[in-house]
Amino acid sequence: MTNTLNTDLGNAPVTVIGLGLMGKALAAAFVKAGHPTTVWNRTPGKADELIAQGAVLAPSAADALRASSLVVVCLTDAAAVRQTLGPHRADLAGRTLVNLTSGTSDEARELSAWTGDYLDGAIMAIPDVIGHPEAFLLFSGSPEAFEQHRDSLNRLGTATFFGADPGLASLYDVALLGIMWGTLNAFLHGAALLGAAKVDASTFAPFANQWVASVTGFISAYADQIDRGAYPAEDAALETHLATMKYLVRESAAAGIDTDWPARIQALTERAINAGQAGTSYASLIEVFRGKA
Ligand SMILES: NC(=O)c1ccc[n+]([C@@H]2O[C@H](COP(=O)([O-])OP(=O)(O)OC[C@H]3O[C@@H](n4cnc5c(N)ncnc54)[C@H](OP(=O)(O)O)[C@@H]3O)[C@@H](O)[C@H]2O)c1
Repeated sequence: MTNTLNTDLGNAPVTVIGLGLMGKALAAAFVKAGHPTTVWNRTPGKADELIAQGAVLAPSAADALRASSLVVVCLTDAAAVRQTLGPHRADLAGRTLVNLTSGTSDEARELSAWTGDYLDGAIMAIPDVIGHPEAFLLFSGSPEAFEQHRDSLNRLGTATFFGADPGLASLYDVALLGIMWGTLNAFLHGAALLGAAKVDASTFAPFANQWVASVTGFISAYADQIDRGAYPAEDAALETHLATMKYLVRESAAAGIDTDWPARIQALTERAINAGQAGTSYASLIEVFRGKA
């Protein structure tokens, strides 16, 4: 991660290609911040609101691309980016392409070969939050491009740069989304379990949130253990966790709700214990995820 000197001090012209739910929010944030904003979308009609706010609709993707030295693209996937911008690659020379389309790290590295001034980005926010500091956006790729356009990118939220490997932003993206899905699955499973005992999800939610806040403390402590490669059971041993996991599986079965989620957690833990990690901390499960246990 880096904080670099920024040379983009004005409201530089920007192009936004792709006006889906997210693309519209990105373009609106640029318009609101005073950037001359050119937009384009495959299906016509999606730019009407933005035009009313001050954006300019380009007649084609090629025209949109040529209108600004900062070009932001936000489409469904990398295939759509290739299809839309591939024929106009030559026009990217001298421009910065910021790809905010979700994808894999390999796709990001492949697209970065299109231009030296490539930034791959991941948006950790929903459209409503774009333009506010709570939206966090992750970037990797050309350090010079990030340096040059940092102010503009910060119009969209809080921009963080992870370095020259264009694939890193995508990797952070999926790793963070995995945390979201894991947490939400655990909440939904818990809500189903308590629901079977006639407890509303809304009654359960504040306790879930309080516990998630405690878990963030565990993450920091375990990150330190992972980086040191040592997993002393300073809080609880893996075998203690396993014993309690079995209650979650049993309670789920007794309540007639799906046991797949807790059974998988139990199975992962049993693999670590079978590999000799019974007395280590929960962080030692990393060896299972690394494929070593
Ligand atoms: N929405 C979110 O909360 C959110 C959050 C973080 C990241 N993202 C990422 O942002 C990207 C866009 O998401 P979204 O929610 O805006 O999706 P969306 O509303 O479905 O919009 C998709 C956009 O891609 C365009 N598109 C799809 N295929 C195309 C093609 N072959 N050629 C040209 N344009 C094409 C669509 O154009 P048409 O209008 O012509 O169909 C539309 O502008 C995705 O990669 C998503 O993962 C979204």
